[in-house]
Amino acid sequence: MALDITILVGTMTGTAQLVAQELELRLDGGDTTARAVLMDNLTASAIEPRKLYLICSSTYGQGDVPDNAKQLYESLQTLRPDLTGMSYGVIALGDRTYHDTFCNGGRRFDRILSDLGARRIGDILLHDASAGTMPEEVAAEWIDGWMALCREELGEKSAAC
Ligand SMILES: Cc1cc2nc3c(=O)[nH]c(=O)nc-3n(C[C@H](O)[C@H](O)[C@H](O)COP(=O)(O)O)c2cc1C
Repeated sequence: MALDITILVGTMTGTAQLVAQELELRLDGGDTTARAVLMDNLTASAIEPRKLYLICSSTYGQGDVPDNAKQLYESLQTLRPDLTGMSYGVIALGDRTYHDTFCNGGRRFDRILSDLGARRIGDILLHDASAGTMPEEVAAEWIDGWMALCREELGEKSAAC
């Protein structure tokens, strides 16, 4: 089944962008299209409800989304579009030394998207910067399982239509 994935990147210092670029390189080709897009200047109207998204976001401040993701996050909260039909995965980057707010940036996106009717595929990938693993390598290992789940779940959905 052909998949068209938009990777939305929330980042402060570029790590999430590096992860997204690695995934874009791995995924784009054959029957899969993948495009990494920085969240800068995006608002809720940029989200197309029938599409497949991968949110790749770090965490800053008191467990907030990074600065370049704030406009999108806040407009989702304010405009509250109906996102029924949208499917998404989440890669959340954080650091476990921030105990109470670990990976909250990605978790916040998960919460608002599911509140608005979108369906998450698979578990959130939580990356801990203090663990000493490279996030782009962890994500590259995780992505095949996520893609398999997407094919399974979206294939079933189109068969049911
Ligand atoms: C000032 C600052 C605040 C941070 N706050 C959190 C936090 O509250 N929770 C968390 O899990 N990680 C936090 N982090 C860790 C980053 O999210 C993590 O290092 C991430 O990999 C950075 O990705 P980026 O370069 O894409 O922004 C913080 C890092 C910095 C420098």
